[in-house]
Amino acid sequence: MIHTNAFTALAQRVREHLGQAHRYAHVVRVARAAEVLAMRHGLDARKARLAGMLHDLARLYPGARLIDECELRRIPVGAFERANPIVLHAPLGAALAQEAFGVHDAEVLSAIEKHTVAAAAMSGLDCVLYLADGLEPGRDYEGRAGLWELACRDLHEAMRATLASSLAYLIRKKIPVAPQTLAAATTFNVDRGGLPSLT
Ligand SMILES: [Fe+2]
Ligand SMILES: [Fe+2]
Repeated sequence: MIHTNAFTALAQRVREHLGQAHRYAHVVRVARAAEVLAMRHGLDARKARLAGMLHDLARLYPGARLIDECELRRIPVGAFERANPIVLHAPLGAALAQEAFGVHDAEVLSAIEKHTVAAAAMSGLDCVLYLADGLEPGRDYEGRAGLWELACRDLHEAMRATLASSLAYLIRKKIPVAPQTLAAATTFNVDRGGLPSLT
């Protein structure tokens, strides 16, 4: 367990790194939500909280910087990422968690890497962070509270329902869907029948 003083120091450094009160408030809510979900499901609450605190370190970087910093570190930048560089804040955030915050725990880094577009293979902790990020109480959309209650009961079902909800949103808004998100939808048996067409 992180000592309280150590956690306060970490939180202060995260706040400085982010440089924006709005984003900092989001990461604190995500850390709390992740901690709750981890406890509900017998997972490591300390790791969940740490992943929550560090998940959006690169979220405010402009697209060109995201691409440059990923290329510098040989983080794969595919066609989807090049066209939608915002998604790179997840893998770059994991790299920054290591470099700037000395976090080398593979489970924590995996959760940070997968928190935006999900992935075909997701651990319990990966699901906890993905759900905490999408369902934290600062998010305002219809169905959020119900999905949160579901996440407290059943991580797998919550992943299925949350992926279905976000896919429906992306398709409706004509926002491109990452291949990793489609792979996750297959893993979690999202029923595509109820979704608008991908084309
Ligand atoms: Fe994010
Ligand atoms: Fe986030």
